[in-house]
Amino acid sequence: MRTYVGILTAGGDSPGLNAAIRAVGKAAMNQHDMRLIGFLDGFRGMMENRTIRLDDGALSGILTRGGTILGTSRDKPHKMPVGDKMLDMTDLMVANYRKHDLDALVCLGGGGTQKNAYRLAQHGLNIITLPKTIDNDVGCTDITFGFDTALTTATEAIDKLHSTAHSHHRIIICEIMGHNTGWLALGAGIAGGADVILIPEIPYNIDRIAEAILRRSRGGSRFSIVAVSEGAMPEGIAAELAITREQLAQTADKAERKVVKEQLVAIEARRADSKFVLPKRLEELTRLETRVTILGHLQRGGAPSPADRLLATQLGTACAGYLHEGRFGIMVAVRGEGTEAVPLEEVVGNRKNVPADHPWIRMAGDMGISLGD
Ligand code: F6P
Repeated sequence: MRTYVGILTAGGDSPGLNAAIRAVGKAAMNQHDMRLIGFLDGFRGMMENRTIRLDDGALSGILTRGGTILGTSRDKPHKMPVGDKMLDMTDLMVANYRKHDLDALVCLGGGGTQKNAYRLAQHGLNIITLPKTIDNDVGCTDITFGFDTALTTATEAIDKLHSTAHSHHRIIICEIMGHNTGWLALGAGIAGGADVILIPEIPYNIDRIAEAILRRSRGGSRFSIVAVSEGAMPEGIAAELAITREQLAQTADKAERKVVKEQLVAIEARRADSKFVLPKRLEELTRLETRVTILGHLQRGGAPSPADRLLATQLGTACAGYLHEGRFGIMVAVRGEGTEAVPLEEVVGNRKNVPADHPWIRMAGDMGISLGD
């Protein structure tokens, strides 16, 4: 009996997605004579039953292409914007899976996609996921594909900012993606020789950052590069967030929960504003002109690095093996040199933060890089 497989890509795009689609497809077709279709634009395309045939022609010439040939979206099966409503469209997706006589669905995505895919698994679909994201924050895997390419892009940007910061005797703050984790800012900061690196896992104190910059100035370096993760925040806001989140966890009453949730929204707004406070305050404290560069979506674009192509190919071919064995409800994770099947229930909600004792943190300390604490 031939096996029929659907593939979709969901969440933010990431370099290496096409390499992974290609690897799943080629290995599944060549090794196991399977047939594949792709759902377009993530879970939305699955709900709307928009598909393409993934045959040799479709999989050819895509290894080096950035983005995803399938398109993507951040839509969730159980909360899909339909007209002006948010509806649970899971049953329709299950029906479309059955309509195509699929034996399995492969979902390529980050933390959110793992959750959404798990929900579909709980509705009886045979699911395998692959971990992709430039943020490298998916739990239970050593690394995610897309990270290495984004790391290269962010590092090259910091390299380039050095000469202009040096020439103008300025502080340049470079904002790096990573959502609520600091992998990308920390990695690119160290690799690019940043003087200060701020990540969400280590709340910062502006006075200490200014001290570090002034120390450099006294030593003759009248410029500094600050690599700041988009989720980084000052100590005060981090403390408020922790207390209020704890309060929410302890509150059962509906009306009280509403109030605490509103407080959380207000704190998050101040967290967002702290981005604008940082350059202004550093300029005041150090008397060095300060500029901000936001790398933004540049970090998600472009051709995947060789390391990401290899990783995506390794995960994709391993996935074809699991499809053949009929091992479902799993994410194909990276473990050392190899891959491993991790049950989705272990992956879901398990965000991988930068641990306080991570070698990169120690390394930064040894190099005299300020982490703002
Ligand atoms: O998860 C990948 C990521 O690029 C994050 O680093 C960033 O916070 C987010 O996506 C941006 O999402 P969007 O492209 O939807 O604005």
